[in-house]
Amino acid sequence: MRTLDELAATVRSCTSCRLAQGRTQTVFGMGDPAADLVFVGEGPGAEEDRQGLPFVGRSGQLLDRLISEELGVTRDALYICNVTKCRPPNNRDPLPDEVEACSPYLARQLELIAPKVIVTLGNFATRFVLRTAEGITKLRGAVHERDGHLVVPTFHPSAALRGGGAVVTAMRADLVRAKQALDAAASR
Ligand code: URA
Repeated sequence: MRTLDELAATVRSCTSCRLAQGRTQTVFGMGDPAADLVFVGEGPGAEEDRQGLPFVGRSGQLLDRLISEELGVTRDALYICNVTKCRPPNNRDPLPDEVEACSPYLARQLELIAPKVIVTLGNFATRFVLRTAEGITKLRGAVHERDGHLVVPTFHPSAALRGGGAVVTAMRADLVRAKQALDAAASR
């Protein structure tokens, strides 16, 4: 697949795993296809499945607020996507074979966008991008480098909705880290 549009079309007709049966539609991603900054989440929830867009439910509202307050931009200045392109039923975690079936799509998406900085939201995105089994609590708080991208792991916004102030504070610090990483990458 040579373009994001071609890749999105392939994803739309994907039946590689059981998640295809339960979806209303695929959620490929949105934003600037040439963005320097990409956010990667876990997988679509109910609202995302309904609208076909990533992070448009409660987690997304928090994410938009943090992006605006810490990075000073709106989501159209960056790109947002997920590890799985279909909604896992009842918002359960994606299963290992579902992640594996979907992973070539995210890998190609990141190759085509070629962002300088990737912010991974939660365990699934962080493990995929950093190719590790380590958890988010251990990995966040630092800037990692992988496949030519600077990678800033942070909590998933749903953890912030559950966990409250301390998680939000950590996410804010990570977004400041992402901004610094972007500035550093731009001056290289
Ligand atoms: N949670 C995610 O990980 N991704 C979305 O798009 C929405 C909620």
